Amino acid sequence: MKRSIAAKALLVTGGLALGLLVSRPGTATETDDQKFAAYRNMLEQDNPGQFWVDEGKALFYKKGGPKNASLEQCDFGLGPGVLKGAYAHMPRYFKDTGQVQTLEGRLLTCMERLQGYTPKQIQEEVLKPHYTNADEENGTADNLTRLTAFVAAQSNGMPFDPPLNTPQEKYVYALGKYTFFRRMGKMDLSCADCHNVPGRTIRGVELPVMTDPQTAGRVMAAFPAYVLKDSNVRTFWWRNERCLLAMRLPWLMTGSEVDAALTVFQAIEAKKSGHPIKIPGIKPRA
Ligand code: HEC
Repeated sequence: MKRSIAAKALLVTGGLALGLLVSRPGTATETDDQKFAAYRNMLEQDNPGQFWVDEGKALFYKKGGPKNASLEQCDFGLGPGVLKGAYAHMPRYFKDTGQVQTLEGRLLTCMERLQGYTPKQIQEEVLKPHYTNADEENGTADNLTRLTAFVAAQSNGMPFDPPLNTPQEKYVYALGKYTFFRRMGKMDLSCADCHNVPGRTIRGVELPVMTDPQTAGRVMAAFPAYVLKDSNVRTFWWRNERCLLAMRLPWLMTGSEVDAALTVFQAIEAKKSGHPIKIPGIKPRA
């Protein structure tokens, strides 16, 4: 399995290099984003991210942990064991934890409650590899990302529609909006400074306007995504974490309230577009 992933990654990288070298005459005005879009369309049929989804599925149904149980009965908000459409309706409020949780956050809860992992074990055995993987440019894979990719893919074809009914959900949405527009850190930057201004670019890369529903829809519907630059699958948490890091802010803990807040805020923008979820996505950088 590993070897075939490596071979695929090589193919992908090779293809990418070729695509960049061979610039057709008469297309000088084609931007990098357009070139990548064409390349992405070609790759969609054979997305290496599918390996993460398949491995996530195997992990999901595998018995493990101190209670030797699988995650099959995990309740993602639509009832125990209901996976179809669950991700499209997250983050959401869970009575049993009293928290608004992201998919990753909820998976951690189920590992604790169904499989019997202690918070310390979760920290050491699940989050540590997850964070290490996120930190490295060319990390390999970690189980939480695999599981997230699998469960998220069960919402394919549906648009985002996280509930905003309970006071907790409304509060977390407001927190997300506040966090998005709030200037923070020693660079005095907000997410909005980079993602609320049409046409803004950094090093030739156009920054997505996450307050534009069409853009938010397209961006979010493709996370978790296979990122060509990293030969790795990246989740939406990871993306927000990378941007917070660029802002010189503290590490975004997976499943934390701020994680849920930033996700809900952007998912509500995505919802307005009705853009269907299509996972694994595929992105040149992200
Ligand atoms: C200094 C500018 C800057 C700030 C501030 C910033 N970002 Fe980003 N953001 C980027 C860049 C650069 C990318 C990568 C774009 C690419 O490579 O496609 C990016 C990518 C993203 C993406 C993924 C886009 C995609 O196409 O997949 C999301 C979502 C995002 N940022 C959200 C945020 C959030 C939320 C915040 C605040 C916590 C934030 N960003 C702060 C520069 C910034």
